[in-house]
Amino acid sequence: MDSSVALGRLELARPLMTRGSCLPEGGQSAHLNGCVPLSHQVAGHKYGVDKVGILQHPDGTVLKQLQPPPRGPREMQFYSMVCAEDHCDPCLVDLKTHLPKYYGMWSSPDAPTDLYLKLEDVTRRFQKPCIMDVKIGQKSYDPFASQEKREQQIRKYPLMEEIGFLVLGMRVYKVGSDSYDTYDQHYGRGLVKDTIKEGLSKFFYNGDILRKDAITASILKVQKVLQWFEGQSRFSFYASSLLFVYEGVCTPNHVSQTLRENPIAPEACEQNNNINQSLSTMYSLHKKGCGRSHYQAKQDNGVWSSSQQPNGNHSLARLEEDRKESKSEAGQETVSDVEVKMIDFAHVFTSDVPDQGYIYGLKNLLKVLHQILEE
Ligand SMILES: Nc1ncnc2c1ncn2[C@@H]1O[C@H](COP(=O)(O)OP(=O)(O)OP(=O)(O)O)[C@@H](O)[C@H]1O
Ligand SMILES: [Mg+2]
Repeated sequence: MDSSVALGRLELARPLMTRGSCLPEGGQSAHLNGCVPLSHQVAGHKYGVDKVGILQHPDGTVLKQLQPPPRGPREMQFYSMVCAEDHCDPCLVDLKTHLPKYYGMWSSPDAPTDLYLKLEDVTRRFQKPCIMDVKIGQKSYDPFASQEKREQQIRKYPLMEEIGFLVLGMRVYKVGSDSYDTYDQHYGRGLVKDTIKEGLSKFFYNGDILRKDAITASILKVQKVLQWFEGQSRFSFYASSLLFVYEGVCTPNHVSQTLRENPIAPEACEQNNNINQSLSTMYSLHKKGCGRSHYQAKQDNGVWSSSQQPNGNHSLARLEEDRKESKSEAGQETVSDVEVKMIDFAHVFTSDVPDQGYIYGLKNLLKVLHQILEE
């Protein structure tokens, strides 16, 4: 395969280009015109630690510096294609709902050749956002990766193939201390099959209770992503993540619902403007069918037996039923609103088969979330 045609011929909307117009700051980010390192970044390269990182624009959007080719242009092409306003391709229209909003490319007047993707900050509407980045799939390297890169990625987390996801980082709001606990990539890499449930449950534990409302809402969102993946054979995603966000501030509804469902929750969870035009003509998209449900997942690698595989549709129906019940009991919505968005598309490629690795990872993630909920 030739990586230069990896995304096929993308039919792109011309990305919007905006210019920075903020006052310079001192120090390392002087040329960034008032944009500052994203304070709530939970994974990836970080300003201060690394040379590049995610920035926050004064208007609240997130700026991700374009990585060197082919990764950066590939990610830009992907956002441009999916988020183009004038397409009516049902597969992409559905996919777009799972991505942060894309506002085109951005650069600072002082460094016009440094290009950034301008994205919606998925955490923006939350008061105390609890955030988790989970890499999904059975392989963290793409089909064009060198042997060295493959080995490096496998060494980082040999369980990727078996578990199908990896917690890259998280931060969790603790109500008692009004502070955040943070967990970096080393925490996630330390989780094995026997500890993954407990490890993941930390994201939903606020120091007092397990936020079952947030788990339920997350499951519903992940199910929607799974539905999209089960109906498409156009793209393969490698080293891409799901970004989870829920509100750390507990309203009385959250608490009463959680306690009603799980009176011993505290104990139980204790252990628990000048866009480089050439970039926009680099790829093209092979138009392919993206019919829903034409594919049923068949793969069973023998690690998670078929009886252990979560039955997505059944669970979805049941959760939605629970959601309706709790709504009518309390007279209003009691299931938390969460965000679950797909991010990091530097290694997305066109394909003509379903993305089995990503589907496997989503199913196993759902299985673990269900197990946490049922405890
Ligand atoms: N749209 C967004 N809204 C809020 N936070 C975001 C958004 N995009 C990225 N982030 C934050 O930045 C982190 C890194 O994002 P991303 O994986 O896209 O960057 P990256 O530079 O590719 O990292 P790496 O290459 O090291 O994997 C995420 O874990 C998240 O905390
Ligand atoms: Mg990343």
